[in-house]
Amino acid sequence: MIAGGSEGVGAAFALQLAESGINLVLLARKPDALESTARQCRSHGVDVLTLAVDLVDRTAVEKVVAVTNNLEVGLLIYNAGANTCSADFLDAELTEFQSVIDLNITTMMALVQHYGRAMRSRRRGGIMLVGSLAGYLGSARHTVYGGVKAYGRIFAEGLWLELREHNVDVLELVLGVTRTPAMQRLGLNFDMPGLRVADPVDVAREGLVHLGNGPVYVAGGNAEDIIRRNNPDRAKVVEGTHRLMRRLLPD
Ligand SMILES: NC(=O)c1ccc[n+]([C@@H]2O[C@H](COP(=O)([O-])OP(=O)(O)OC[C@H]3O[C@@H](n4cnc5c(N)ncnc54)[C@H](OP(=O)(O)O)[C@@H]3O)[C@@H](O)[C@H]2O)c1
Repeated sequence: MIAGGSEGVGAAFALQLAESGINLVLLARKPDALESTARQCRSHGVDVLTLAVDLVDRTAVEKVVAVTNNLEVGLLIYNAGANTCSADFLDAELTEFQSVIDLNITTMMALVQHYGRAMRSRRRGGIMLVGSLAGYLGSARHTVYGGVKAYGRIFAEGLWLELREHNVDVLELVLGVTRTPAMQRLGLNFDMPGLRVADPVDVAREGLVHLGNGPVYVAGGNAEDIIRRNNPDRAKVVEGTHRLMRRLLPD
């Protein structure tokens, strides 16, 4: 099951898994993109179930669980989660930030608990959460997004400890800037000199290869940047990255 499996990294996961002969359940909001990815996956001879659902919606988990009632979900990839509210914290409604929390935390936890319990009983399975370099430091207009991405990583680390004795893999796949349709729609300055931009196909492949090497894998050649982001001189790190982010993000 890929939550956010229609575009970008999610679609790349789907195609790579389909090429390996793995049946899929794909979740996303836009039915057209979902069906187009599903069609490409089916051409590899696998079964693909799609559900057009907004994972922020209160009824989402119920709907997802209902369509998979008779299925064994052996791998849950929670990919949906790009920032949907890039305002300064005091300048947007709390409800808008709540959606960022619901997508990245509330619904993620509910799906992980539901499918994770079944994996623990079967003593096999895998859970991958797609995280971000943004979860390693605070940044303006990412107050909530950075926080939820930090949460995802810490959650994955704990879950990894709890599930490894049950033979269930847990991986937080940390991405840096990645050329996805969502980021292209946001108008990110991908051409900024010196910026490392990853391809969705490459980072999805890295994630699948490293599924068993949890709890955290930093994709796209960004591992060294984590050392810089963890520097205890927080003002230096936060201000330095802020300058970079202002060149990267549209106004
Ligand atoms: N792209 C980057 O530069 C970058 C950098 C660091 C981390 N990441 C992480 O990588 C992951 C993927 O990001 P992305 O750039 O591809 O954007 P995204 O907006 O998270 O889209 C990824 C997939 O999720 C679906 N999706 C998004 N919101 C959804 C919702 N509310 N309900 C159901 N499905 C939803 C999208 O389809 P629909 O729009 O049709 O729903 C799409 O299939 C995220 O977790 C993000 O935090 C991305």
